[in-house]
Amino acid sequence: MKEIREESKELGYDFWVTMVADTITEEALPTYESWLMDVVGIDQHGDFKTNGWAKWVRAWTGEENRHGDVLNKYLYLSGRVNMREIEITTQHLLTDGFDIGTDRDPYKNFVYTSFQELATNISHKRVGQMAKKKGNALLGKMCTIIAGDEMRHHLAYREFVKNIFGEDLPG
Ligand SMILES: [Fe+2]
Ligand SMILES: [Fe+2]
Repeated sequence: MKEIREESKELGYDFWVTMVADTITEEALPTYESWLMDVVGIDQHGDFKTNGWAKWVRAWTGEENRHGDVLNKYLYLSGRVNMREIEITTQHLLTDGFDIGTDRDPYKNFVYTSFQELATNISHKRVGQMAKKKGNALLGKMCTIIAGDEMRHHLAYREFVKNIFGEDLPG
């Protein structure tokens, strides 16, 4: 903890704003899981092993859950931010829910997630680079690992989109 606090002294206001935004975005995971489980063709009922989409969403959720957890723990241990305010904002975000305009359409939703995962990859990667530049090796490593997960998610969703268009479009 001493190491985290010592290293984080060099990180500026803009950096913390970005870290907080990234953390809150990850912490709203219940919204994303419930949204994805509602997409047409993703059926979480019945034998849980039979619907590949639902199985994917559960595994994806498990992995995403670690992002919010580790970012939240880092922020808490850094002692540099007001955790109470962050938790209040997360509470509001979850309570409000969201509408990304994709309805329950699997095409629209998976095209959206393809781009969204890439966006999170870029964001976490750049935060990691900034942290490393300021001498925060551990934080840099943490963000780089998260960015790696996001890249794998991006590649998976991109593959899904490629396949569903290949299966469903004539010619
Ligand atoms: Fe994530
Ligand atoms: Fe992701």
